Amino acid sequence: MSATKDESPILRYDPKTFGYSVIADAPEVSQNHKSGRVYFSEEVMEREIEEIFMKEWLLVGRAEEVEKAGDYFTHDVGDEPVVVTREKNGNVQAFANVCRHRGVKVAWGEGSTKYFSCPYHGWVYDTSGNLVDAQYLEKSKNFDKKNCSLPRIRTELWEGFIFINFDDEADPLMHSLEAWDFPKTYEPYQMGRLKLANKFTMEIPSNWKFLNENLTDIYHIAVLHAATFGPAQPLEGYRYKTFDGGYHGRFTGGTLVPEGKSLFGPIPWLPEELHSGGFSSHLPPNVAWFPRFDYVSIGTNWPTGPDTSVSITYQLFPEEHFSQPDFKEKAQQYVDFYKAFMDEDTDMIQALQKGMKSRFYKPGPVSPFEAGVMGTIKHAVDDLGHK
Ligand code: FES
Ligand SMILES: [Fe+2]
Repeated sequence: MSATKDESPILRYDPKTFGYSVIADAPEVSQNHKSGRVYFSEEVMEREIEEIFMKEWLLVGRAEEVEKAGDYFTHDVGDEPVVVTREKNGNVQAFANVCRHRGVKVAWGEGSTKYFSCPYHGWVYDTSGNLVDAQYLEKSKNFDKKNCSLPRIRTELWEGFIFINFDDEADPLMHSLEAWDFPKTYEPYQMGRLKLANKFTMEIPSNWKFLNENLTDIYHIAVLHAATFGPAQPLEGYRYKTFDGGYHGRFTGGTLVPEGKSLFGPIPWLPEELHSGGFSSHLPPNVAWFPRFDYVSIGTNWPTGPDTSVSITYQLFPEEHFSQPDFKEKAQQYVDFYKAFMDEDTDMIQALQKGMKSRFYKPGPVSPFEAGVMGTIKHAVDDLGHK
């Protein structure tokens, strides 16, 4: 059966028909921003951890980070340390990184190993979380190796991205990805064919939600980022599709390097219609998607306290570029540029955090360009009953 016109990915990405124009057609918003308390309260953060981070699918890395059996990396979600491994059978699996003796982390940082040896009393686990040795305990009646495996955490992959979920009752990953239209929106990118070139972590002196909101806020781009990517990402061409808890944005323009000029050219398999600018999306609860015509940047935002957070950025390029002799230097320019505009953002995020405690702060009206921001707020604030 031949595809109808509407099914053509090329027509689907016609920049003139994607969603609505934020300049010409943005719907009126009659809401205000939120009270300061939701950005510094310990109690609010604890509920977010329980209701959001312990129940939803969380993007924690890329399959390339655990390419071979025995490869692993660690990641904390609130107070829950996690280790993600490539098991002997090739499966990618997350485990609670909590020793079954007294709770010390058994895996640290990242690397490749056959066994994790707990640094405290030396219990040894294989990369499938099975306890294989516990010194001087073999004869103890109170001990059965089989009951001492590292707990497995649900793990699913989509296009090379590793997601985990602490909730055994949660719907499969694809339910939420499809409900929020990610597979269709990003089908032409075939992100599983891209490869991780850069991963970097930034400590942010603010509540994690400010980072989410900042990365979904196009209202500030022309002002705050006038000296970096602002001119390459004009609001005039911006179009939006919103969904409950997030949005997809589409714009024409440049990429995220000086003057917006790509150092690699378009991703070879992207249809011509996508050879300009790119997308921005928010995947609840904490992922900022910035696919551009020449590479893909993804950022996750994690609470580490009521007024501190960590941002992890993943930059992906087509595998064929990696063999270019100057690939590393060129890819580094994408890191440097990203960090330069994130410095601009971080100054503002820090100022926001400070403003929240002022007795004079009263939440102001939301601009029509903040539809993406309101999506993240709906998911992380309104849906939890916070005000
Ligand atoms: S805490 Fe791990 S061996 Fe004791
Ligand atoms: Fe910004």
